[in-house]
Amino acid sequence: MSTHPVDTAMKGILLAGGSGTRLHPMTLAASKQLLPVYDKPMIFYPLSTLMLAGIRDIMIISTPADLPQFERLLGDGSRYGVRFTYRVQPTPDGIAQAFVIAGDWLDGAPCALALGDNLIFADHLGVLLRAAARRTEGATVFAYQVRDPERYGVVAFDDDGRACDLVEKPEQPPSNWAVTGLYFYDARVGELARRIQPSPRGELEITDLNRIYLEEGSLHVERLGRGCAWLDAGMPDSLMQAGLFVQTIQSRQGMLVGSPAEVAFRMGYIDADQLRAIATTMGKTELGRLLHELANGEVPR
Ligand code: DAU
Repeated sequence: MSTHPVDTAMKGILLAGGSGTRLHPMTLAASKQLLPVYDKPMIFYPLSTLMLAGIRDIMIISTPADLPQFERLLGDGSRYGVRFTYRVQPTPDGIAQAFVIAGDWLDGAPCALALGDNLIFADHLGVLLRAAARRTEGATVFAYQVRDPERYGVVAFDDDGRACDLVEKPEQPPSNWAVTGLYFYDARVGELARRIQPSPRGELEITDLNRIYLEEGSLHVERLGRGCAWLDAGMPDSLMQAGLFVQTIQSRQGMLVGSPAEVAFRMGYIDADQLRAIATTMGKTELGRLLHELANGEVPR
């Protein structure tokens, strides 16, 4: 474990369960969140996002069958200067159930939640994320304009630009602003999540949790502009698009997307020697070469 002080009191949950039916047969014998998005396992992307927010105490939740694979991939987190805790979700009973499962571990702390199949890429994302992680009251969600809002949680805005409604997968979407799979909550989240009742489809809906904050006037909705990319890699087309996106940026700019090792180094969680040690485990890959360059100060910091 690194000796750096914890950057925020906020904890983080990475939710990586579910059955991945929209990716069958790829996910019949493998976890969706371990499938490759170009040169990294899918879960590296939301993990990097949580770490970029300054969150260093992270619980990874997955199915009984898949959880050991995540432990094998990620270990206890010490190589990234963070701490990972693992817990099982026996059946996929809803995204908001994560806070019930993590209740005792949360112990009244504020908490962010990242879905294991979501990838966000934006200039100055770190600044936005750290502002959300520092907010001590209410909740923060991120909205992004999409062509197919009916597939997501959708947020509507009033004439003053304030969020006024939230609906999960509406047949008639009130706007084209989808709510992304990255959520920041204050210290009441564990208690509020226990109040939610299962929806008609039998799940504890994250949208119902967000509606509690909306109704009490404490839901902050950050709109991500057109220069940002938000991809959810849960279907064959979006998985392919996410991989091509990462490949395009990395090969054009020589900069990594979704590397927890890079984020750990840039955030000061690990030093250059620790980064070099991670890079060495990647052998002769391009990813390893880029991490070595970063450790040697050969790319802009
Ligand atoms: O991607 C953003 C969207 O994620 C939001 O706009 C929606 O409001 C939110 O409900 C969610 O919609 P999805 O249809 O994508 O949810 P899905 O059931 O596919 O679950 C998202 C991820 O969470 C998926 O990778 C599997 C994981 N999951 C899901 C459930 C329901 C679990 O690990 N456990 C669960 O119980």
